[in-house]
Amino acid sequence: MYVCLCHAVTDQQIEKAVRKGSVSSVRDLQQTLGVGTTCGKCACEARDILQAASRKIEEPGLLASAIATWSPSVVPGNTGNDAQPAL
Ligand code: FES
Repeated sequence: MYVCLCHAVTDQQIEKAVRKGSVSSVRDLQQTLGVGTTCGKCACEARDILQAASRKIEEPGLLASAIATWSPSVVPGNTGNDAQPAL
């Protein structure tokens, strides 16, 4: 979907730029893609897409961090004994 009609910039182009790491702020969007630099009508939509794309990138990092620090000993009720309970 076109976000910026003045510069023919799509939401996918913005997301791609964020994934590549070349854009991390609205100012970066203005400088690299020209978004919001002519009529400015696209600025809010572009900012929302930028923020959503940034969150998508951060979430896997948070998950990886949680996995790296996870330990079975932090699970409530886990005694660390993997033996099956006697029936
Ligand atoms: S629509 Fe983006 S600057 Fe006009």
